[in-house]
Amino acid sequence: MSSRAAFLAPVIAAFLLLASGRLFATQEDPAQGERPRLKILILGGTGFIGPHEVQAALARGHEVTLFNRGRRNPGLFPELETLLGDRDPNKGEGLKALAGRKWDVVIDNSGYFPRMVRASAELLAPNVRQYIFISSISAYADNSIEGQDETAAVATMPDPASEDMGKNYEYYGALKALCEQAAEEAMPGRATIVRPGYIVGPGDDSRRFIYWPLRVRAGGEVAVPGDPEDPVQVIDGRDLAEWVVHLAEENITGVFNACGPAERLTMKELVETSARACGSDATFTWLDLAFLEGQSGVAFPIWEPYAGATRGGHCWSNARAIAAGLTFRPLEATIKDQIAWLDGLPEEKRGRATPEVPVKNEAALLEAWRAREDK
Ligand SMILES: NC(=O)c1ccc[n+]([C@@H]2O[C@H](COP(=O)([O-])OP(=O)(O)OC[C@H]3O[C@@H](n4cnc5c(N)ncnc54)[C@H](OP(=O)(O)O)[C@@H]3O)[C@@H](O)[C@H]2O)c1
Repeated sequence: MSSRAAFLAPVIAAFLLLASGRLFATQEDPAQGERPRLKILILGGTGFIGPHEVQAALARGHEVTLFNRGRRNPGLFPELETLLGDRDPNKGEGLKALAGRKWDVVIDNSGYFPRMVRASAELLAPNVRQYIFISSISAYADNSIEGQDETAAVATMPDPASEDMGKNYEYYGALKALCEQAAEEAMPGRATIVRPGYIVGPGDDSRRFIYWPLRVRAGGEVAVPGDPEDPVQVIDGRDLAEWVVHLAEENITGVFNACGPAERLTMKELVETSARACGSDATFTWLDLAFLEGQSGVAFPIWEPYAGATRGGHCWSNARAIAAGLTFRPLEATIKDQIAWLDGLPEEKRGRATPEVPVKNEAALLEAWRAREDK
């Protein structure tokens, strides 16, 4: 081999390797070659949004480690490294498995108490670049105002050191706000606070949002609360997960409401989209607020009175998140996919994820509504 050829051989080899890598990456994901591969630690990972985050991160070529107690869906990701421990440093081995390890980004899905978020964020601070804390839209103090953004005041609680969430989870939001502060204090300027509203779609076993598609699918006369134009905000867990990975890739920090969709969604659109998705000819009877207020024990999932203390509950500004890359798939896709996911679950799990349809008082409410109309 000439000296020139000897010089060029490794250069050509390196180029071919790069080119073949690019070619392969092009088939998988066009931009992979330009993106650094991140090492991502998920605190949790095996419940609802965690698996979507895992999938979104792997699809983008990142490396994922999970940290959990190994109780929920163990063995879900046999190909991933799973570190076992507890968010509570006082329980069992606590956070020991995280000590001395380095990651680019932490996604904290399982923080509910500031003491525990502080413990993990302080431990990881020297060894990670960014801490993404999954908070909640419940972190805010006041739901009465429409269109509030991330500057709105957060909820507080009488004893911030208490780890009692309250009988009806009334301190869930205040505790989340304190968790956010703990993350930011441990990693100033390096924390990303994500405040989602209702998270829905495949994997959502909360029996809330899916009530409407299932009720509409069952057909007949459907009682719907409030006014057809009442707003409703939801976010598909997959959209949330993809965006969280984007926040990690771009190292975007700050506070973000994660509520969808982009344009105002109404209850009318929710039930009509459900009818389209399920091929249902259900009819809708709208029970107005004044009527509902005169009824006792009325409980419809997701919907909140578009008045008084809850007027702004489904009207959070998502402008900042959209500017930071959050996108939303069509509602019809979310509905179809959540129903398909539910229908495909083993019987026992399906039962737990399926709300009672119709709500207990639907027939009585419709009767009372008609009696009122007859007057
Ligand atoms: N669902 C909604 O509509 C909604 C709305 C707004 C905000 N959020 C927020 O979104 C997040 C939901 O997360 P997800 O449950 O879907 O997350 P996930 O990461 O999919 O599942 C929770 C994980 O946390 C682990 N975990 C729970 N307790 C733990 C502990 N003490 N120590 C170590 N690991 C622990 C669980 O595994 P092991 O049990 O095996 O440990 C599981 O892997 C929460 O922060 C919630 O506040 C939800």
